[in-house]
Amino acid sequence: MLITFEGIEGCGKSTQARMLHDWIRENGQNTLLSREPGSSPLGEKLRAILLSQESGDISPLSELFLYLADRAEHVQQVVGPALQENKIVIIDRYVDSTLVYQGYGRGFELPFLQQLNARASSHVWPTLTFLLDLPPEEGLKRAKNRNVENAIEIEEGRFESESWKFHSKIRDGYLELAKQEENRFVTLDAQQPVELVFESVKKHLMEKITLTQA
Ligand code: TYD
Repeated sequence: MLITFEGIEGCGKSTQARMLHDWIRENGQNTLLSREPGSSPLGEKLRAILLSQESGDISPLSELFLYLADRAEHVQQVVGPALQENKIVIIDRYVDSTLVYQGYGRGFELPFLQQLNARASSHVWPTLTFLLDLPPEEGLKRAKNRNVENAIEIEEGRFESESWKFHSKIRDGYLELAKQEENRFVTLDAQQPVELVFESVKKHLMEKITLTQA
């Protein structure tokens, strides 16, 4: 089973993904926590290129293909083998990030991106996707605090320095996707306390497991 977490910067995806991973493991199930971009040897290099401010302006088309190269490598080297071993795989960002950031954000047509996503992911689709929804101003505030705390303002600050308008488009894009695929997406209010969000994550996962086993 593949579970993904999506949302704008600072929405708390990584925290929830880690909490879910730990909880599943404590319950005796085999699980793998991963993220995009990154998570394969080539992917780590691509991540550094994609997120470093030093890269300057990467053209939207080049950026798209770098994310897709990262995904192809990630699925072939990491996600595919883990699913083969019956692990519950959790990914912090996946195919929907491309639809939203490169589609709603950069303006590429969704059918074109869906086709590329299908190839890059080898048709490995999430069973369940948690969208942690947050107003863009709140997300940017959180992401900025986190970067300052972790001293990654220079290394990985490229996206956070994008305009508020861009982040609004991203949020709206996610909500639109979630509406289109109601069976896969669970949208949660990320302004709630972390523990409350996590209770909802667990509840929805259990429901999904019950449904898929029925
Ligand atoms: P990251 O530091 O992982 O941010 P976050 O903690 O918010 O997940 O940065 C990932 C960035 O890459 C994020 O701004 C979204 C962007 N991205 C895309 O534009 N397209 C993609 O396909 C993926 C996977 C990520």
